[in-house]
Amino acid sequence: MLEAMFNFYASIPPEPILDATFNAGRFWKGSKRDVVSMDIDPQYKPMIVGDNREMVGVPSGKFGVVAYDPPHVGPQGRDKSCKKFDVDFGATVECGKEHNWNLSYLYPPFLKQAKRVLKPDGLLLAKITDMVNNHRSKWAHCDFMRMAEEAGFTVCDVIIKIRSGPMVSNKWQNAHHARKRHCFWMSAGTVMTVKADRAGETSRRRSL
Ligand SMILES: C[S@@+](CC[C@H](N)C(=O)[O-])C[C@H]1O[C@@H](n2cnc3c(N)ncnc32)[C@H](O)[C@@H]1O
Repeated sequence: MLEAMFNFYASIPPEPILDATFNAGRFWKGSKRDVVSMDIDPQYKPMIVGDNREMVGVPSGKFGVVAYDPPHVGPQGRDKSCKKFDVDFGATVECGKEHNWNLSYLYPPFLKQAKRVLKPDGLLLAKITDMVNNHRSKWAHCDFMRMAEEAGFTVCDVIIKIRSGPMVSNKWQNAHHARKRHCFWMSAGTVMTVKADRAGETSRRRSL
């Protein structure tokens, strides 16, 4: 998916790439790309253990692409313990009442840093998944699009990617909302018209 997006959207060479939420690095299995890994959780042994809302020590204007796959479920269950499910989905981040049961508060400080560390004409590729928390739908992809524009990006495309099955947890006994089996891949550029025009122009020539 990412390789196809580089070919389709990038107007400068994508490398070096910063993966700002590396986790197990599933995006890069089999890839030979020059990827700098960052994660707040040291257990994944990223090159940079750090908070992508601060990116301490990361130089400005260095990367052709920043990849972002933020947590999209809050800690599950009353005990707030950290199970395999939580770790796989990055569900270890505060998502309670003080954040309106939502994880979108993570985006603005990250977006500011992503803009800083990207080269001019650089590309932000973000995998965003909506969620249900505290019995309410949280439209993360809408928040992300608005916040990216507010941070000075141009969101030039949104791709809906279908999973093989819905996310499941044995904590979820009854469904009150449709099971989601999709996520959104967003591409956003640091330069407005160029990126928007290129995406339009390119889509006439090939399909993703
Ligand atoms: C959904 S997982 C990413 C999965 C990853 N794309 C993969 O392919 O394996 C989200 C990751 O973001 C990390 N994370 C959460 N908040 C972060 C922050 N503020 N800064 C850096 N990493 C963060 C979590 O530790 C978790 O590993």
